Amino acid sequence: MSRVAYVNGRYVPHNDAMVHVEDRGYQFADGVYEVAAVIRGRLIDEEPHLDRLDRSLRELRIAAPMARPALKVVMREVVRRNRLKTGLLYLQVTRGVARRDHPFPKNAAPALVVTAKRLGLPGQKAIEDGVKIITIPDVRWERCDIKTIALLPNVLGKQQAREAGAFEAWQVRDGMVTEGTSTNAWIITQDGELVTREASHAILNGITRLTILKLAEREGLKFVERSFSVDEARRAREAFISSATSFVTPVTQVDQQVIGNGKAGSFTLRLRQAYEAYTAGEGATA
Ligand code: PDD
Repeated sequence: MSRVAYVNGRYVPHNDAMVHVEDRGYQFADGVYEVAAVIRGRLIDEEPHLDRLDRSLRELRIAAPMARPALKVVMREVVRRNRLKTGLLYLQVTRGVARRDHPFPKNAAPALVVTAKRLGLPGQKAIEDGVKIITIPDVRWERCDIKTIALLPNVLGKQQAREAGAFEAWQVRDGMVTEGTSTNAWIITQDGELVTREASHAILNGITRLTILKLAEREGLKFVERSFSVDEARRAREAFISSATSFVTPVTQVDQQVIGNGKAGSFTLRLRQAYEAYTAGEGATA
């Protein structure tokens, strides 16, 4: 089954999907993006992803490429044309094509690309084994709340993790964990309290993060939004990461420290289950 991409008004074979060499995304990383999960052919948390896209665009003063209802049609069409059941939808908006010059161009129209990618879901054993995390300095800029396509520190951090045999790197600023390179970071303390860093300019306010907080509240779980240190993470009872593509993924090692008994903890598994139920129901849009 060949892949299809949407590029500036046209649906094209994925291999032929191209943008101009003077697209400002290509030259300046002058753009924003979203990644939404597709499960059973349905988009997960579509409205919150589009709300965050609007916010990112506003922060960078890039015009919306089209009105939301039209954008939703394009997103559905990309899912449909790719016959996507399980995977992700990638959406990118840049300031458009213009002769290379740093200030905003006067007449560029925002450029929109939407692609789809198939993904397999991990099996039960992989979930129970969890993943390993390393910690690295957070060298990013001070507006990590904007989902920009400028991801070089994230790319370098993820590569460092992979070379260390880890799945993700938690970035650390002033001794406190900010977030992963493409995920939010969570711990469950020895007292059984769920902890994740509060939303601020220091982290991306993950859509999965927001959903998990909502589910935790609904399930009557004890939680707090605050910073935690690397040391606290190493002493945690449980830990996990969240994102549109990893959902709730247990963490069983932070640097050299095994977390809990080295297997996914019960609190984390309960949240993963709640999240899966959410994606099968109210979180999915037709
Ligand atoms: N990453 N923090 C960072 C730095 C991220 O890049 C992401 C998402 C998250 C989690 O956000 P959400 O729950 O909305 O996916 C947190 C996406 C998946 C990516 O870059 O592929």
